Amino acid sequence: AQSSETRQLNTLAINAKCPALYLPESIADLKEIIRDLDAPFYLLGEGSNTLFTEDQTPVLIKPKLMGKSIRHDGDNVFITVGCGENWHELVTFCKDQGYHGLENLALIPGSVGAAPVQNIGAYGVELSDVLYSVQWFDFTTFDVKEMAAAECQLAYRDSIFKRQLKGKGAITAVTLKLSTQFVAKLGYAGLNQLPADVSAEQVYQQVIAIRQSKLPNPDDIPNAGSFFKNPIVSHSVFEQLIQLNPNMPSYPAASGFKKLAAGWLIDQAGFKGIRFGEAGVHQQQALVLVNLGQANGKDIIALANKIRTEVHKKFNVLLEPEVRFVDQHGLTDIDKASQ
Ligand code: EPU
Repeated sequence: AQSSETRQLNTLAINAKCPALYLPESIADLKEIIRDLDAPFYLLGEGSNTLFTEDQTPVLIKPKLMGKSIRHDGDNVFITVGCGENWHELVTFCKDQGYHGLENLALIPGSVGAAPVQNIGAYGVELSDVLYSVQWFDFTTFDVKEMAAAECQLAYRDSIFKRQLKGKGAITAVTLKLSTQFVAKLGYAGLNQLPADVSAEQVYQQVIAIRQSKLPNPDDIPNAGSFFKNPIVSHSVFEQLIQLNPNMPSYPAASGFKKLAAGWLIDQAGFKGIRFGEAGVHQQQALVLVNLGQANGKDIIALANKIRTEVHKKFNVLLEPEVRFVDQHGLTDIDKASQ
């Protein structure tokens, strides 16, 4: 492993110093690294949902376990994919093979192994709709076991891997249950204009077109997608807000709750397109914070806190980051990172 700089390792292009970067290609490699390491480390995918908050990161382990295996059972297709594979390449591969279910999840940045951690979701589909199981390597016991999707406790941008199993192991492979039968999911705005007999290819292309119109390409404008989660509030809070803001968008959530659109709240608070030092808010989507050039972690945090404060003042709703905050010791949170 070599020390390195992190600019190429995260889509926000934060340039911190990393004491060592490991790129294991197998579970055996991973075992050896973990066994010999006595420093804090952080498991990184493609860094598309990570904010390095300090000038120094922990040791970074970026698994490069690759490969796919496919099993057919009637209309069902079970595809097992190494955690190091790129998510969008997998979506494209499956669409081309006629293995359906991932079309709405096209163009999401990141690795396959990271997908279950926050239960990636977009345009009316979540990973939980297609996840069958994950292969889990336990850092303490060194066991490798198969966890059924139901054990992963997937919820909106949430899973057991952010809770009880946080930092306790690595997802080394993911098995998805797809189908050779295509059923279009067209509920989400932007897809609901498509005809009912639309092809998988067309849905895939339409999702890509919508994303490209709103979300900046990290290669051009460094960003980590949605910076905050869409807040889930009680029905009574929702009722008060909607009385005052009849045009406020919202989405269904668990019974008794509603999901609000964080992007709309931030937009209404006046942040869309603003610049704050080296950090900014994207012009087409206020939920996306961008690095305008030389931002470090603290610059992004300063803007995030300003947004949180103003949205809280205006709507009495506290936004929680979707992006994961990593200091020199490992995972942290926005409050600790702001001290
Ligand atoms: N809106 C505004 N102003 C803005 C941004 C949004 O008024 O600046 C309004 C939109 O008009 C719309 C609503 O807010 O009525 C929701 O916006 P959008 O459809 O763009 O989706 P989102 O809720 O902001 C979520 C996910 C995205 C995902 C899209 C599509 C979260 C945190 N984000 O965004 O995921 O692509 O829905 O399903 O749930 C990501 O997680 O990084 C991500 C990009």
